[in-house]
Amino acid sequence: MRKSFVAGNWKMHGSLASNLGLLNAVRSGTDAGGIDVALCVPYPYLAQARSVLGGSAVAWGVQDVSEHATGAYTGEVSATMLTDFGCIYAIVGHSERRSFYGDTDTVVAAKFSAALKAGVTPILCVGETLAEREADITAAVVTRQLNAVLAVAGIGALAHAVVAYEPVWAIGTGRTASPQQAQQVHALIRARIAQEDAGVAQGVRILYGGSVKPSNAQELFGQPDIDGGLIGGASLVAADFLAICAAA
Ligand code: G3P
Repeated sequence: MRKSFVAGNWKMHGSLASNLGLLNAVRSGTDAGGIDVALCVPYPYLAQARSVLGGSAVAWGVQDVSEHATGAYTGEVSATMLTDFGCIYAIVGHSERRSFYGDTDTVVAAKFSAALKAGVTPILCVGETLAEREADITAAVVTRQLNAVLAVAGIGALAHAVVAYEPVWAIGTGRTASPQQAQQVHALIRARIAQEDAGVAQGVRILYGGSVKPSNAQELFGQPDIDGGLIGGASLVAADFLAICAAA
């Protein structure tokens, strides 16, 4: 049985002052031993996340990572640097990185591998745009994004990673994929992984992301191949995030 996992993606929100209440509320509202819970914060707040969440049931992570290990890469942050701050997770391939910052499938695969190599668990995001859904190529797009990582990192790597299906048209739009639409793609992702290794496919957690709210979380998480959520906007409100965790 896969353990449910809910991760918050704060995106570019927060301040030392505003984070404090949020981190403390999530910390005190999360029991050890239930589901896995994590908050992916902006880099400058990693130290704060470690200081407030350390010793609790809530893990912390980041929203991107360099594909390089070290060197003259101005502005980049390596996976090894993240481990200095006890960082457990790194989101890679979020659609905002893919669309605004040119993260191609190749770059995403390299970031995925760099994270794993340093001992940081990648949360690999895949998902189609509205145009791609309307053109009926969702399966092809998601499979292509997954294949790029499988080709570089290999199937064994997926056993140490998390996948997140985030339909781009559902991100921050208030328009959630229906539980059936999401389940269909989750099943497809698991089936693709099963073609390589049935055991890995059974064990890998596939999260849904895209306008998850307390009101829709339970039905989404009730689907057989949805193992939790990657939460944007609602992770900025402690009560909402905790209600989503309770639904998982
Ligand atoms: O990574 C989380 C995400 O992109 C979903 O954002 O605000 O629609 O929950 P949101």
